[in-house]
Amino acid sequence: MEVYSTNLGRSDPSIREGASGDNVQFWDEQARLLHWFTPWKETLRWNPPFARWFVGGTTNISYNALDIHQDDIADKPAIIWEGEDGTSQTVSYGTLYLQVQKTANLLKSLGVRKGDRVTIYLPMIPEIIVSMMACARLGAVHTVVFSGFSAKSLADRMNDSGSTVLITADVGYRRGRIIPLAQTAQEALKSSLKIRHTIMVQRQDGIPSTWVPWTEINNKSDKCAAEPVESTDPLFILYTSGTTGRPKGVLHGTGGYMTHIHSTFRWAFDIQDTDIYHCTADVGWVTGHSYVAYAPFLCGATEVMYEGAPDHPNPSRTWQILEKHKVSIFYTTPTALRMLMRHNAMAAKSYNLSSLRLLGSVGEPINPEVWVWYHDVIGDGRCPVIDTWWQTETGGMLISALPGLESIPLKPGSGTLPIPGIDMAVLDENGKTAPPDTKGYLVVRNPWPGMMLTLWGDEQKYRDTYWSRFPDYYYPGDYAIQDKDGYMWLLGRADDILKVSGHRIGTAELESCLVSHKKVAESAVIGVPDEIRGEGIVVFVVLRSGMDGMGMESELEKIIVSQIGTVARPDAIHIVPILPKTRSGKIMRRLLKSLVTGKQIGDLTTMEEPGALDEVRRILQDCGCDESW
Ligand code: WT7
Repeated sequence: MEVYSTNLGRSDPSIREGASGDNVQFWDEQARLLHWFTPWKETLRWNPPFARWFVGGTTNISYNALDIHQDDIADKPAIIWEGEDGTSQTVSYGTLYLQVQKTANLLKSLGVRKGDRVTIYLPMIPEIIVSMMACARLGAVHTVVFSGFSAKSLADRMNDSGSTVLITADVGYRRGRIIPLAQTAQEALKSSLKIRHTIMVQRQDGIPSTWVPWTEINNKSDKCAAEPVESTDPLFILYTSGTTGRPKGVLHGTGGYMTHIHSTFRWAFDIQDTDIYHCTADVGWVTGHSYVAYAPFLCGATEVMYEGAPDHPNPSRTWQILEKHKVSIFYTTPTALRMLMRHNAMAAKSYNLSSLRLLGSVGEPINPEVWVWYHDVIGDGRCPVIDTWWQTETGGMLISALPGLESIPLKPGSGTLPIPGIDMAVLDENGKTAPPDTKGYLVVRNPWPGMMLTLWGDEQKYRDTYWSRFPDYYYPGDYAIQDKDGYMWLLGRADDILKVSGHRIGTAELESCLVSHKKVAESAVIGVPDEIRGEGIVVFVVLRSGMDGMGMESELEKIIVSQIGTVARPDAIHIVPILPKTRSGKIMRRLLKSLVTGKQIGDLTTMEEPGALDEVRRILQDCGCDESW
């Protein structure tokens, strides 16, 4: 068997040793690597399930990302931005610093103060990072909404967060098309409750007259001191799908979050002064927050930011970007890798990728076959591949190999070990530790600095979602196996959350959207395995009696795209006369999944009306949708 390892010649056993002792003291030492205006009085206040790190300390993440670099690396590129059309633009640490201060002053002039919420609805352009850091500089709380979300999703998030300012752009560019962001924003503003001002980055001609042009920042002073904020003050809200109809606002703090991402970025990516780092995540998701918008700058790194599709105008675009910018560290998703591999597994060989030295994966399980291809072909057998497991809620990585810290053997398909200071386990149904090599539920047994503060406006839901399945332990909702060497194998979600191209989509959210259609009586949404995107979405609906199903598929697709966004577009929609249910009335989604995937149908004794299954099977057969996935 081939042996893979993280071996980059780094070895700092003191970190793991330190962490295995007093892990609170351990994080205390990590936090000292950052700048604090005033030191904390208490390293961790653990009032389960609420963790507050570095209590009493004041700091500012924008100060740590910008001010501290001005004496030595002001001219170093912070962001090398590339557009889909091939144009690029470099923003130095010095320029970023001035832009952030001007933008902070603009926000201030619009009345934004510490604690106020600002919604950011922007494409992958440097202004999205500038906006976030400008908020952070004032102590305002940003809430970034992914630019693929609909007007309704945007409005819901603006309203739920109580944002008073919206920052958007006229358009985004993707796959050769124009994404009309301002139009969507305008639509969303119709149902907005509190937005007082909208700032717009203008990339084309024409701007609604009541909006503030982004260029207004140039009329503002380029000096705006970073506001000292409490370590425990909120930095951002990021909405993510859960198992109920409404997305949850994950609230992150300042000092703990900053310490977590600063530590993990260095340990995982072995970041050196000369590295060029490229992460393909959109800033609208948590990977983009932690490892595109913040951590690289905390570490003084240079990053490549790309606005566009990884396979546009052709599937070699990704390799082209890596070659052109001499990228040394590349962080992407299994979906992107599967797509590129499927298209032409050897295409990368026509490019000079000799600058690469470390590869990362995130967002969903990576199959060993793809892992090995990533390692052998893209990394030319020279670059360690790290599979990093974490969540919106965890703020930063919790499981990953750490080539910047230590040399360990890698096993394709395993995330390897929890990071230092994190105590994890795999439990069985009853909360007992599962034996090695047995599937169970992943839990975290101690608080960590990047841990969310709470769910915005819903403490009870925070307790219920993460801390009630196994009392005293954090429950992320994932299945896992821990092998005899302690390595973690992540096996996907244990709840009703789908991972479609690494994006998180709750089935309940889709179902509540479907039943909002006046003709729909009930609905069931299931995830089915998809070779490229991990999972695909299949929808079943029962219409109200007497309703005509003509054209319903396209209507239902439309309602999903308009209420949630294109990310949630289903792969198939089936109108069925009845859904299989238990006698107590619960929809048997697993049965539907078995039918679609052609798996053996299990025990049917709890089923209310066994005939329902035949009806569904007949409909699937008619459209050729059974067993063909
Ligand atoms: C869920 C969190 C991690 C930031 C991006 C996604 C799945 C994430 C992995 C991985 C297997 C993974 C889990 C997790 N997941 N990384 N390396 N291997 N599964 O953040 O949208 O909050 O989703 O993504 O199921 O719970 P998110």
